Amino acid sequence: MKRRIGILTSGGDCPGLNAAIRGVARAAYEMFDAEIIGIHDGYRGLIDGDYSEMTRGQFSGILTLGGTILGTNRTPFRDMRKIGEDNVDKVAAMKKTYKELKLDCLITLGGNGTHKTANLLSEEGLNVIGLPKTIDNDLYGTDFTFGFHTANDIATDVIDRIHTTAASHGRVMAIEIMGNKAGWLTLYSGVAGGADVILIPEIPYSIEKVAEVVQRRAENNKGFTIIAVAEGAMDKEEARMKKKDRESKRAAEHFSSSAYVARRLQEEVGVEARNVVPGHIQRGGTPSAFDRVLSTEFGVHAAELIRDGIFGVSVALKGNDISHNPLKDVAGIPKPVPVDHHMVQTARRIGISFGD
Ligand code: F6P
Repeated sequence: MKRRIGILTSGGDCPGLNAAIRGVARAAYEMFDAEIIGIHDGYRGLIDGDYSEMTRGQFSGILTLGGTILGTNRTPFRDMRKIGEDNVDKVAAMKKTYKELKLDCLITLGGNGTHKTANLLSEEGLNVIGLPKTIDNDLYGTDFTFGFHTANDIATDVIDRIHTTAASHGRVMAIEIMGNKAGWLTLYSGVAGGADVILIPEIPYSIEKVAEVVQRRAENNKGFTIIAVAEGAMDKEEARMKKKDRESKRAAEHFSSSAYVARRLQEEVGVEARNVVPGHIQRGGTPSAFDRVLSTEFGVHAAELIRDGIFGVSVALKGNDISHNPLKDVAGIPKPVPVDHHMVQTARRIGISFGD
């Protein structure tokens, strides 16, 4: 039986997207008579009817390629039901494209926002399967998302490189790791890179506690301190603010969490402090071997779900098994770092401070 599969990548890109696309396509071609339609730039392409029929050859040579061959776009979930100035009913437009293309299913590769829209389309009657990607690893229902492992390697490499220059100069260095809402990447790369302090959104810090670490290290003849700061880390005062107020304050100040930490330490402790923002470097380049494998497994599982006619789900890694969850149970549910997570405890056991 012929099956027509639409596939799109949405939200921030990450290494492993192409490996996952390839996994879906190759397994689908192996298992059944598949026709694959690549939808361009995420939901934007589905809304605008911007897509192309793909050939087998287009899935060749992309395993190691960073980014996404389909392009991506952030189309916020909160706007999906809103009719804008262009007068386009986005949900109706997406359903129309799906119908016109005579799709049997739609595969969406994305994070929390992507999954919320995937669930919406599933509730609207489309056959949807989600694949969880993000360097933030903050999707509920899966132990790991693809992209996280590669970003962790990159962030760790940044910390390693900062380590040597910080040690040479006897400086305090605050390194800003991506993750606005969740601190997974900062926590893992902080531990892997031997940071002295790890600041994550889930554990509000006080600058005095961070300063104590710097001072204690100085007293022990360690003239430098490495601080891994999540993009979304906040001090206790900010944590008490309403989310909306905090966000607008930060936007108005072009806020950088690492610059803030470095500035306050310099002012309050009088030590030379610098900050580094590796930014989107953390999302670029070729996927790690781990992410290539995970993406391939996720892609293959999605193709098996299509073969078995199982839709309205998101693929997941649970322990050592690849399985899936109903979209309605996981879509858009964030997965912050639990404050008693074993990795937090591990870090504390070896003397890493969370500034709390
Ligand atoms: O969700 C992945 C992520 O890289 C976050 O860590 C970061 O906060 C955000 O995307 C950055 O978004 P953008 O690519 O739109 O600047």
